[in-house]
Amino acid sequence: MTSPIRTERHDNVLVVISDNPPVNALGQAVRAGLKDAIGEALADDSVEAVVIRCDGQTFFAGADITEFGKPPVGPNLPETLDAMEASDKPVVAAIHGTALGGGCEVALACHYRVAVPSAKLGLPEVKLGLIPGAAGTQRLPRLVGAESALPLVVGGNPIPAKKAEKIGLLDVLVGEDSLEADAIAFAKTKIGQPVPRSSEGKENEDGVRDPDLFDRFRASQARRIRGFDAPNAAIEAVKAAGELSYADGVAKERELFMKLMGGTQSAAMRHYFFAERAANKIDDVPKDTQLIPIKKVGVIGAGTMGGGIAMNFLSAGIPVTILEMAQDALDRGTGVIRKNYENTAKKGRMSAEQVDQAMGLLTPTLSYDDLADCDLVIEAVYESMEVKKEVFGKLDEVVKQGAILASNTSYLDVDEIATATKRPGYVLGMHFFSPANVMKLLEVVRGKETRHDVLATVMKLSKKIGKVAAVSGVCPGFIGNRMLSKRQEQANELLMEGANYWEVDEVLLDFGFPMGPFQMGDLAGIDIGWHRDPSKVTTIREALCAVGRFGQKAGKGFYDYDEARNRTPSDEVKQIIADFAAKEGKPQREISKDEIRERLLYPMVNEGALILEEGMAQRASDIDVVWINGYGWPLYTGGPMFWAQTVGLDKVVTGLERYGLPVSNYLRTKAENGGKFD
Ligand code: 3HC
Repeated sequence: MTSPIRTERHDNVLVVISDNPPVNALGQAVRAGLKDAIGEALADDSVEAVVIRCDGQTFFAGADITEFGKPPVGPNLPETLDAMEASDKPVVAAIHGTALGGGCEVALACHYRVAVPSAKLGLPEVKLGLIPGAAGTQRLPRLVGAESALPLVVGGNPIPAKKAEKIGLLDVLVGEDSLEADAIAFAKTKIGQPVPRSSEGKENEDGVRDPDLFDRFRASQARRIRGFDAPNAAIEAVKAAGELSYADGVAKERELFMKLMGGTQSAAMRHYFFAERAANKIDDVPKDTQLIPIKKVGVIGAGTMGGGIAMNFLSAGIPVTILEMAQDALDRGTGVIRKNYENTAKKGRMSAEQVDQAMGLLTPTLSYDDLADCDLVIEAVYESMEVKKEVFGKLDEVVKQGAILASNTSYLDVDEIATATKRPGYVLGMHFFSPANVMKLLEVVRGKETRHDVLATVMKLSKKIGKVAAVSGVCPGFIGNRMLSKRQEQANELLMEGANYWEVDEVLLDFGFPMGPFQMGDLAGIDIGWHRDPSKVTTIREALCAVGRFGQKAGKGFYDYDEARNRTPSDEVKQIIADFAAKEGKPQREISKDEIRERLLYPMVNEGALILEEGMAQRASDIDVVWINGYGWPLYTGGPMFWAQTVGLDKVVTGLERYGLPVSNYLRTKAENGGKFD
């Protein structure tokens, strides 16, 4: 097998090149090749400096994640990097694309780092439930200081080259199109000088001078890192870089890394990494399907949903024509879009110029005719089959042939909507989640006639607008809301049997959800869909509406709210629920938190199994992707289906039986045959 590493001589500089598509992951062959190349450079007196660069789209994007969990084959990354750093001949990293994780650690082990301006550098290991494992947590603080290192190691988001240069992670930025030549020239200027080694840097002393730095940082991140093990380990490792010798710091990092690697959180997050990428692929749609160019998008409805949907495309540089029925609604809608962008700019995440650019791509209109030349039109109008069919009938007449017509419906039958057109192959669902410009999930609903090129186009487009897409078949509520309804059924049932609603919320908060169902109800408004007749009370929600407890906006719903929107459980509500249960003849009893958790979550798993059995989701991991990105299911458990496997599918089955809840044949069979869904 040929090595992915080759070397080229440029005078007295040895250029070491990795060619390991798609992302130059640091698999065994790459590590071995790098180590050999360094050996070659050291052994050859005519080589006086080394440049390391990569072919293809990126510098090393990290360790090869597919090797994790398998028996290690040497050389390992730390020893490879130590050999590199030990060289007395200057070694220069020449960076383009994304130097991530182990790739960033390669750069840190080099004596110098040069990069093109478009490059990004980062340590995203926390996103896999890990911390850097090749001395990144020890070299980085010694090079740039603990204060600059903390957000990189703990947050995991890459930073642009310019910022990396500012904090001292890069030595110099070079020409976008002359990386190799500039890196060689740079290396030549360093020949004969003593080499600077990151492991010997002194910048980490900022953390010794100001030890409170770590607690302050932890407090500032508290909400974001709640429940995750890796960020705390990352803080500990960076702190160790100031307190311990380099060798002891590296040993500390290894201990923390190995513990995380063996834990369930990292297994779950690595599962998610591949799940997200798998979800974008559709098994029966060939990879080389010709895509439909999307140069202009139409959005029908300028309300909260339509406006949010439009922003996704505007932000990605795609022109949008937005349609409303009346001028005032149109003005209000475009005003909200502008305001949202301006707020983003105020937070420093967008320039005033970018706001104008995005708004410049928006065309408001009252006329369907203006949608004629759109390549994709997304409808976000009222959830009524009649209304949707009318809209699609009109669109079919007006919009050019070959254009895609999408509905943002959250539960209606997309196949029936398609019958309102003469082009059902070009119809599908694009279910965005509110707020649509923020939430990552896009449920792509595949109708029975949806064409391959239409699906492939929308999947590709979803990535361009920063969404994580998963495909659902046509069924009520699709994947996400269909499973949510099972959880909600049990939440309501538990109240009727005597569980306190705040305990139901607490159980889900403790599990890692950002919110429980009753908090969510209060936030969205309990009166959504209420018939407005206080004398007609058939559900607890109606009982609350009847006494004006409409949710947060009214200062009271399930909870009472103070001015700062802090919530406290309400005696009035407790009484309303008890009265309601008595009226229905439901005896009340104490219900344990374990029962609450199992009754909320196990039926979701069962519904997920039914969704798989019916072929409504392609794979169990797609369901995980939906729930993590659309409903706040905690990432560190891997999503409902992965989580169920870690609990044990047999345990889930027994639990459902214990509570007299349905168990699908599919779930039972999987439980009996290995306990895995995929
Ligand atoms: N190992 C193995 N495979 C990887 C990989 C990695 N580190 N990174 C990406 N891939 C694979 C993907 O699974 C995908 O495979 P597929 O085509 O079969 O689905 C393919 O490469 C392309 O990846 P993307 O679809 O994500 O391509 P993009 O161009 O959108 O993004 C990227 C490129 C920004 C590099 C992105 O892939 C990424 O963020 N990768 C992960 C980076 C990372 O987490 N690195 C840290 C690894 S842990 C580590 O280094 C530990 C160390 O400290 C010891």
